[in-house]
Amino acid sequence: MNTLTHFASPQLPLLHRGKVRDSLRAPSGDRLIIVTDRLSAFDSVLETAIPHKGAVLNGLANFWFEKTAHIIPNHVIKLVDANAMLVKEAQPIKVEMIVRNYITGSMLRGYQKGQRTFSGVTVPDGLTKHQQFPEPIVTPTTKEESDREITPENLVSEGWVTKELYDQMAVKSQMLFAVGSRLLAEKGIILVDTKYEFGLLNGQLILIDEMHTPDSSRFWSAEDYAKNPETVEQMDKEYVRQWLIANKKDGEYPRALTPEVATEASRRYLDIYERITGEALPTAETAAADAPGSGRHDARARLLANLVQAGLVKDAWVNIVMGSPADKEHCEKIRQQFEGYDVFTQLRVTSAHKNGEAIAGMADIWNNSLEPGVIIAVAGLSNGLGGALAANVNVPVISCPPYKDYAELAMNLNSSVIMPSGTPNLTVVRPDNAAQAALRALNIPRLRERLSKDILATKAKLKAADEEFRVL
Ligand SMILES: Nc1ncnc2c1ncn2[C@@H]1O[C@H](COP(=O)(O)OP(=O)(O)OP(=O)(O)O)[C@@H](O)[C@H]1O
Ligand SMILES: [Mg+2]
Repeated sequence: MNTLTHFASPQLPLLHRGKVRDSLRAPSGDRLIIVTDRLSAFDSVLETAIPHKGAVLNGLANFWFEKTAHIIPNHVIKLVDANAMLVKEAQPIKVEMIVRNYITGSMLRGYQKGQRTFSGVTVPDGLTKHQQFPEPIVTPTTKEESDREITPENLVSEGWVTKELYDQMAVKSQMLFAVGSRLLAEKGIILVDTKYEFGLLNGQLILIDEMHTPDSSRFWSAEDYAKNPETVEQMDKEYVRQWLIANKKDGEYPRALTPEVATEASRRYLDIYERITGEALPTAETAAADAPGSGRHDARARLLANLVQAGLVKDAWVNIVMGSPADKEHCEKIRQQFEGYDVFTQLRVTSAHKNGEAIAGMADIWNNSLEPGVIIAVAGLSNGLGGALAANVNVPVISCPPYKDYAELAMNLNSSVIMPSGTPNLTVVRPDNAAQAALRALNIPRLRERLSKDILATKAKLKAADEEFRVL
């Protein structure tokens, strides 16, 4: 099973890359949330991703959104893939509604230093580590560079939210927490605390972000808690945390996990999913071997197929990159050639000579894109662009220099054809051929089938012409 660590596509503008999730703008204007397999521990993202973690979190959020839709509407449109959720874009309320039923974490640390009032809520003296509160409390924070504890009164006076909305959010948060706690208790899990985010959609309050996932909540095993409340640990991440602590070197935690630790962490996430929902994660490996190529083992291939099926992306892209806006017409000529092939095409402008630094940002998307792609570079005279792109990207680069006559072409061509080492740029002179070469370079079964048909059609045309002409 491979993992999904970084989502990129020239087809979907990136809205936000969080520690775990990548959010993108869908063509419909909706928001596509990709829940990756990244794991963050001690406030930094580890180099090793955890197989199935993204699917577990996404699946759990979906499970909870469904279970609570009668309490408050939420942003979910559709679970497009095990790792992807299409949601409605809301106007987010910049407040985190944290509900706590036990004293732990940062609050416990504050309490031990003598703090008794948290976000306006006063808790009794004499609480011991991990003790349950008489009833769940809501301790809001602002959502800014570093979140800040704040009282409901100040949230209103500082303009974060109106009093009416805050009151609604507080009531809904308590109701959601009650449903979550009850259902989890049946599974032997304690919902220790969690965080909700709300937004406005057409003036209506809805629930956004994620819900009751291990990344937004703390889960304890009720059995462990009963044995000793003070030593109970978070069910999901604690295993990795303990390993990191045990393997600290020179005061630094390891950046990567061993394959065994990643596998065990994965097993624990899958276990939590199954325990909560009562069913095994659909995309998880089962005892029966999957047929190779079924997509289950290849999270990226499966995600792409599902995004294509949902109409969110095409299965391949071509970026036509010009060195100067003056070459737009030539680029449009190339672009037209892709009509009918159902490939995503896009024009970009960057000059290797004048703003070569922009290539790095573009290359990050091209090099990590989920779907296959090809770049066509359009630069005349001295073509530095084709080489600069070819040296920096892991997809084919085809130069198609513009020219007004053959004299100019003859002068331009050397700079496209003669390249230093490490710059595997290809050159095609005619715009139609450049597009056809790009379609072949994409090398995907659907296009190969289509190109075979094109080839047969050309042969048939020539044969028909031959038959017509020879009788004349
Ligand atoms: N439906 C929605 N409409 C608008 N914004 C949303 C919606 N759902 C979630 N968001 C916002 O998208 C952002 C998601 O960020 P994400 O959780 O991926 O990273 P982060 O909060 O910046 O950092 P961290 O990884 O530490 O959580 C949040 O600011 C959240 O409020
Ligand atoms: Mg977040």
